[in-house]
Amino acid sequence: MMNSSEMTQAVSILGGTGSLGMGVAARLATAGVPVCIGSRTTDKAEAAVEALRKHVGPDIVATAADNFDAVGNAGRIVILTVPLQSQVRLLKDVKDAWSPGKILVDTTVPLAPAVGGRPTELVHLWSGSAAQQARAHVPAEIGLVSALHTVSAATLWNLVHALDQDTFVCGDKRDEKAVVSDLLGLIPGLRVVDAGGLSASRIAESITAMLVGINVRNKTHSGIRITGLPQGVG
Ligand SMILES: NC(=O)c1ccc[n+]([C@@H]2O[C@H](COP(=O)([O-])OP(=O)(O)OC[C@H]3O[C@@H](n4cnc5c(N)ncnc54)[C@H](OP(=O)(O)O)[C@@H]3O)[C@@H](O)[C@H]2O)c1
Repeated sequence: MMNSSEMTQAVSILGGTGSLGMGVAARLATAGVPVCIGSRTTDKAEAAVEALRKHVGPDIVATAADNFDAVGNAGRIVILTVPLQSQVRLLKDVKDAWSPGKILVDTTVPLAPAVGGRPTELVHLWSGSAAQQARAHVPAEIGLVSALHTVSAATLWNLVHALDQDTFVCGDKRDEKAVVSDLLGLIPGLRVVDAGGLSASRIAESITAMLVGINVRNKTHSGIRITGLPQGVG
């Protein structure tokens, strides 16, 4: 579980200048969570923070950094929001920035456009899933949880639209999933469902490819909802 001091620590978002990163930052900042936007260049991160302030409000706590410093600036949680083709490169670039106790939240979906394919198809990774690929490039003492695969960036960014959906969290350590669930649970309308170990991330990631097709056919930003769960889950 996240304690009260962890709630006031910055959450860093690597590649936070992109669509998902900005959407997550907007929702977390709205919930009062300090955010640090990471980028390959600090200029781009600073511009993103300015855009975030314009979109959410002048009183948010938001800072900018390059991705390496963003890992160091994080209280406990670092969220990775970059395309598949840059996931490993970025994790290698920041590998010396980690300190014990931190948790990486990987959001990567291995969609086929990363290798020139269709957005409704997946790349099958040797490691099994994008999350397991990330695990191999993060120091063993750093936590690893995957989440947010099925939540659309556009829906997150549209703050007048209340969320009404679930997100899966996958990870091999219950306490790490609890910390990440507490954070994401601060986003109103987003219920967090524990979907199992990191290997289950392959299934969570693949659902996104199906949602992309549903979105195209219905011109929408769909999400998922699990039924039948007891009250109080998430
Ligand atoms: N978009 C969605 O609705 C959505 C939903 C769920 C999951 N996801 C997953 O979230 C991840 C990010 O998606 P996105 O749509 O936010 O991506 P994006 O906007 O295309 O890119 C995000 C950021 O990644 C960085 N980046 C791009 N190319 C890079 C490279 N070659 N090397 C290092 N960094 C690079 C850029 O940041 P800098 O230039 O500032 O470094 C960029 O702003 C993806 O893995 C996607 O599958 C997306």
